[in-house]
Amino acid sequence: MTAQIIDGSAISKTIIEELKQEVARLKEDHGVVPCLVTILVGNDSASQVYVRSKIKMCNYLGILSKQIDLPEETSEEELLKVIKQLNVDPSIHGILVQVPLPKHIKENKVLFAIDPDKDVDGFHPTNVGRMVIGEPVFLPCTPHGVQVLLQRSNIETKGAHVVVVGRSNIVGKPVANIMVQKALGANATVTICHSATKDIASITRQADILIVAMGKPKYITADMVKDGVVVIDVGVNQIGISPAGKRILCGDVDFENVKEKASYITPVPGGVGPMTIAMLMDNTVRSAKIKYNLD
Ligand code: GUN
Repeated sequence: MTAQIIDGSAISKTIIEELKQEVARLKEDHGVVPCLVTILVGNDSASQVYVRSKIKMCNYLGILSKQIDLPEETSEEELLKVIKQLNVDPSIHGILVQVPLPKHIKENKVLFAIDPDKDVDGFHPTNVGRMVIGEPVFLPCTPHGVQVLLQRSNIETKGAHVVVVGRSNIVGKPVANIMVQKALGANATVTICHSATKDIASITRQADILIVAMGKPKYITADMVKDGVVVIDVGVNQIGISPAGKRILCGDVDFENVKEKASYITPVPGGVGPMTIAMLMDNTVRSAKIKYNLD
């Protein structure tokens, strides 16, 4: 069997076009324009690329964006002050603090200071709690992107054994929580594997749907999966630089070999990555709609 490739770029483009119409409708019918603020502290080059692409997408959709760039030496106190001001500014619907933050700033202290009603990343404990009890407002963007990829590829999750490899707060734990919910696009039996799991391969081989987010290039090999598995690769690993100076990326899955056994597989790049930004835009539009009580 050779897997069908799940084209995350194409699926995210469809979602973006749907959102563009939604943003136009909100403006025309209600005079509402969603507004996202991004905060970038320091000079991390990957973070600069990510923030730039988020702003570019806002511009494309007609979402207002404000970019706050702060120097590396910004203190935690100064950053918290900026967030406090944004929390009370009624013209702002979404606040995103790009992580990682410089080492002298406590990431959780900053993320937890964002008003949960403007937390379009879905990282605030209030939103994490809402997700866990099945009353979500803002789902975290990458895990939600994984769910939407599966749904839009018509992959049945109800009753499926979903094995998640990785337990980060940004991907592993939330994606497991989303997939276990008694809800459409979920309702799975979920197992989480991590660095202390014994004999990971014996568990990954049981997966009907394998979601990998561990940050180890090509870790999942063909002998670790069963025939017909659906593989969602969330890993983004830089393994070199091309002669043209571009980053060469690979996922956590040995794509070339695993695709010969899988029924569906996401590529890296072009799989989960483009979904994250689409889900961020979706959360920003959702936030504005909630604020003005619009459907
Ligand atoms: N850094 C890497 N991914 C993300 C993300 O989804 N949100 C934020 N705020 N920072 C990130």
